Amino acid sequence: MKKYFEVDEWQVIENDFDKNYNRVTESVMSLGNGHMGLRGNFAENYTGDSLQGTYIAGVYYPDKTIVGWWKNGYPEYFAKIANAANFIGINLQIDGTEIDLNKVDFSNFKRVLNMKKAFLERSFTVELENNRVEIIEKRFLNQKNKELAAVKYQVRPLAQDAEIVLIPHLDGDVKNEDANYNEFFWEGLKKKNNKGKALLSMKTRKSDFVVATAMNWDLNKKERKVELLTGPGDENYVGNKITLKAAAGEKIELNKYIAVCTSRDYEENLVSKKAEKKAAAAEFRGYEDLFTEHKEAWAKIWQESDIKIKGDPEAQQGIRFNIFHLNQTYTGHDPRLNIGPKGFTGEKYGGLTYWDTEAYCLPFYLATHSEDVSRNLLLYRYNHLEKAVENADKLGLDGALYPMVTINGEECHNEWEITFEEIHRNGAIAHAVKDYVDYTGDEEYIKEYGIPVLAQISRFWADRAHFNSHKDKYMILGVTGPNEYENNVNNNWYTNRIAVWTLNYTLENLEQIKKNDPAKYEEWISELELEDSELELWQDMTEKMYYPYLEEFDVYSQQDGYLDKEQKLVSDLEEEDIPLHKNWSWDKILRSPYIKQADVLQGIYYFKEDFDRASIARHYDFYEPRTVHESSLSPCIYSLLAADLEREEKAYQLYLRTARLDLDNYNTDTDDGLHITSMAGTWMSIVKGFAGFKVQNDQVEFRPFLPEAWDGFNFMIIFRGRRIKVNVEQEETTFYLEAGADLKIKVYGQDYLLNQKEELVVEK
Ligand code: BGC
Repeated sequence: MKKYFEVDEWQVIENDFDKNYNRVTESVMSLGNGHMGLRGNFAENYTGDSLQGTYIAGVYYPDKTIVGWWKNGYPEYFAKIANAANFIGINLQIDGTEIDLNKVDFSNFKRVLNMKKAFLERSFTVELENNRVEIIEKRFLNQKNKELAAVKYQVRPLAQDAEIVLIPHLDGDVKNEDANYNEFFWEGLKKKNNKGKALLSMKTRKSDFVVATAMNWDLNKKERKVELLTGPGDENYVGNKITLKAAAGEKIELNKYIAVCTSRDYEENLVSKKAEKKAAAAEFRGYEDLFTEHKEAWAKIWQESDIKIKGDPEAQQGIRFNIFHLNQTYTGHDPRLNIGPKGFTGEKYGGLTYWDTEAYCLPFYLATHSEDVSRNLLLYRYNHLEKAVENADKLGLDGALYPMVTINGEECHNEWEITFEEIHRNGAIAHAVKDYVDYTGDEEYIKEYGIPVLAQISRFWADRAHFNSHKDKYMILGVTGPNEYENNVNNNWYTNRIAVWTLNYTLENLEQIKKNDPAKYEEWISELELEDSELELWQDMTEKMYYPYLEEFDVYSQQDGYLDKEQKLVSDLEEEDIPLHKNWSWDKILRSPYIKQADVLQGIYYFKEDFDRASIARHYDFYEPRTVHESSLSPCIYSLLAADLEREEKAYQLYLRTARLDLDNYNTDTDDGLHITSMAGTWMSIVKGFAGFKVQNDQVEFRPFLPEAWDGFNFMIIFRGRRIKVNVEQEETTFYLEAGADLKIKVYGQDYLLNQKEELVVEK
């Protein structure tokens, strides 16, 4: 863990540049707007260690699978969001010296990520032999006009006049660091270079996405010479070399306007024109005007999703950092997009979709955005249903198996124990339908889009399970549960439980539609070719599923035979063992009793209404001491359950494990990118855990408590057209309906009516 950044409630501040920490800082200082994102790289040339990263949402390259032993059913490729043309680049020379912070002396370095207004600012003074020159750079990716970005670059000689060369450019010669075969993913299509503007159009190989990047620039100094650069020997490069004289004290300001358009949104032959037009229009409007609309879009985001924590600036910075990055990664404007575990901040996980979205991120978007945002997350899976059916078929199974990792609906994961066996992911995708409908009340969604997804997943479970006549039970063998520290287990309780839940939920909803809309019911029965015998089988499975149980402890067993393992606890581990995945052989991990992440408890969390408090406590007390939380997705689930059990201190301690995960590089892996999906878990720990927020039977409920370390916290909830502000303090909680119609809510189990006229104060 490293306390590197200055603590500030709205900013992340790097005060002195540590070259060895640059990759971490670049991840932390990433910017994104849902359409594109970039790491916090420098605008000028930098030869030190850095991952130059610019990513355009949905633009991927199918990187041919690399695997030691090919197994039938493996995917042909792992899609990777292609590292795209670097568009922030502005090289700088002062009196013939190239400014490269790896080579020149400098002072007063500061890099600041402003989360409130979503921009990155960097300043430093170059210390040359006979001059000192101050540089300030600001940049943002427009949250409203998502195809636009802008960079403001200021240079001011301090000691004496200087010759300044500025080279705003677009550089498409960029590679993904983790390319399987070191391939270049792009093919250049078109280059245009004019004084004051340039264009670079490129196409991804194999997947054929055209991305046109256009730049325009303006400069506050008319006396200048502009030459056109087509590259430093590179093919996919365009730049304008601007040479000028600056007097001592004179501030030179270059604004670079960028537009990035793709064939995902426009006809291929129009993409370049669109980008050029948009960059020109951006220049016409100017930096400040564009920044104003961007800032306003962010003000609205903060109004609806901010969490304020009183009396703990580190926690305040931590939660805002998480909310900020979630909103930079996914904005819900396009149902073809989703949330990569690293967002736009690094290349690990390829920028693809995991079950993380449904299991961890959906609650955040439901409570902080309008309904259409979460609906788009669900439609993403609905639109991939056909591919999920093909995927199951590839494995010789009926129904739909959604991929573990995907961008376009096709499976990309290629480790058999996960690709073929970590099938519980299907359950989270089904459960998301319930989460969405329970929250929004949008019953129509089930009727129109939910049913086929639920039925095909049910069909998969029915085929994947088998009937064991010896035990008179259905079983699901050869799976990997959420705990990836054990593979190919039989009857993972969580998987069996969520399979049964899916079958039940599907049957209930079919029944409901049959009653309320018989014509629609018949339509689905015929379209999905559902036979009575199939529905009867599903019903039978729900009644006769096998669940492994540990009588001795009176808890469900994670899987068959879990107790056969040597029963050691996390407290028996030495400090040098942790994290296991870095210090132990894989073989030793697989044989050990240690649990990577919430597994049985993931199920208890989903289905806690089915358990009494004593049972939840027993499961918690059995599994928590065995869990190493080596997935960042784990602590939040334990924190939520601890909050439910009113173990407030424990809930808070677990929350702390992810609250500043990336800001303090807690797991020493932030250089790979940020843990975007676990950020939603941190939000859940506060809103669903500490404030006890949930929606049950169409009613909003709270059961708040205040962690001892805080003086108070408040947040906003969006619920069916209302905006509810909740302020939690030691003795009491205040609720205020900022927008929308009167609403009945429950606090600590009591009913209250909330209206816009007065605050509701409830004592603890
Ligand atoms: C976790 C998975 C998760 C993936 C991506 C893995 O370490 O075990 O549950 O889906 O990371 O976040």
